[in-house]
Amino acid sequence: MFRSIRFRLALWYTIVVATTFVFVSLAIYEYINRTLSASLDQTITNEVRWIITRLEKSKLRSESRQTTREDIFEHAGFFPVKEYIEIWDSNGTLFYHSANLGDEDTLAAYAHLPLDQTFQISTITTFRNHDIRLAVQKTPVGSVFLAMPTESITAPGNQLLRIFAWLGPLVIIVAAVGGAYLARKSFSKINQVIDIAQRITADRLYDRIPEHPTDDEIGKIISTFNDMISRLDASFTQMKQFSADASHELRTPLTVMRSQLETALNSKITHLELKKIIANCLDETLRMSAIIENLLLLAKGDTGQDHLKQEKVDLGKLIRETYDESVIIASQKSITVTLDSPPHVIVSGDEQRLHQMLLNLIDNAVKYGRDRGTIFLRLNKEDGMAKIRVADDGIGISEHDMARIFDRFYRVDRARSRELGGVGLGLSIAKWIAETHGGTIGVASKVDKGSEFTVILPLSPQ
Ligand SMILES: Nc1ncnc2c1ncn2[C@@H]1O[C@H](COP(=O)(O)OP(=O)(O)O)[C@@H](O)[C@H]1O
Ligand SMILES: [Mg+2]
Repeated sequence: MFRSIRFRLALWYTIVVATTFVFVSLAIYEYINRTLSASLDQTITNEVRWIITRLEKSKLRSESRQTTREDIFEHAGFFPVKEYIEIWDSNGTLFYHSANLGDEDTLAAYAHLPLDQTFQISTITTFRNHDIRLAVQKTPVGSVFLAMPTESITAPGNQLLRIFAWLGPLVIIVAAVGGAYLARKSFSKINQVIDIAQRITADRLYDRIPEHPTDDEIGKIISTFNDMISRLDASFTQMKQFSADASHELRTPLTVMRSQLETALNSKITHLELKKIIANCLDETLRMSAIIENLLLLAKGDTGQDHLKQEKVDLGKLIRETYDESVIIASQKSITVTLDSPPHVIVSGDEQRLHQMLLNLIDNAVKYGRDRGTIFLRLNKEDGMAKIRVADDGIGISEHDMARIFDRFYRVDRARSRELGGVGLGLSIAKWIAETHGGTIGVASKVDKGSEFTVILPLSPQ
């Protein structure tokens, strides 16, 4: 539990909130203290100024000392905060001494104004049992000492600190609960993803996580995960289909052979009939070998074990040689094969495989071509690529089938293909060869008009 991201997230959240709370509290405390002490200083300075103005006035008017004293006393009495006032004459005698100072205490004993200064304000911690802020002003009409207790400024700050101290644990509890709730809420979806992921096996690939309504991180995880299962599902289905098709293809020749051999064993047959049966069985064996060879080739391609050669291949030469072979194959159906003199085109790759790819296309063109028809072979360079075309004027392929003919074992007409010796792997292999050479293969076709297969390969870097 303590190692889960959920717990750590909630913990971090609480720590951040608590730290922020402490910093904000201290900042407020500091701000209040500063503001209040500035205002206290201002009040004291104003008071001192008032007294000096009063003294100057009394000197100007030659008032009696008693009148001045009474006036100051009255003024001090109006002031709500306790203030200590002490005034010394310019000749050094005590002129005024507020009653709250008592008889033996003088403010002058606490403040020593340097000679070059006329004003000073400072905090005195040694005065009785409380701190005071004391101002001294020296003027020609006398020296004024005025002090006020600092309690008025420290009290609100201290009270605030006490409130914060009470509030602190409450804030931490709320943050912890809130953090835990948020973390739980965001992770409940993730837990759902984990649950489903654990449930999913090859047999349950239809399972999907319910989509998240918002496009946040969780939503992205879910849609990525669902996409991944869909792809897995598709490739598993494809694999299952592939093995089913492969076993079916291998079983057919075996069934044929078995029934033929049983006939040979059980009934009286002539030497000629026996020879025919053996020839049939041989045909089926050859067919099975061809299927297995093709399957092995594709399997190696799938697992990346087929180590293709990387040599310079002269496609012009290769297509000319293939043309010679195709003329022989096509002659069975009296098909004419045409090839204009091919240019010199070099690609890099495996000559044997490229030859196999061309033969597969030509084989199809012959098989699905018209009797006494024509096959066009073309090679040219286009947009810095080699382009090979194999076209026929045969049965053609419908739009629907065109999308699938490159799939393994797919045949438009299974029976006809089989009759012609096909298993539906020729185009899959051609496609794989084109793609492993960094190229593409495509088809254009019209039913009853003919088909044209195009292979585009990158040229070999010089
Ligand atoms: N030139 C073509 N004209 C018409 N149909 C074709 C042509 N080439 C391929 N096809 C169709 O595509 C299918 C798959 O071709 P391929 O993989 O070579 O298998 P196969 O030749 O063994 O049947 C063929 O069965 C056929 O229906
Ligand atoms: Mg074929």
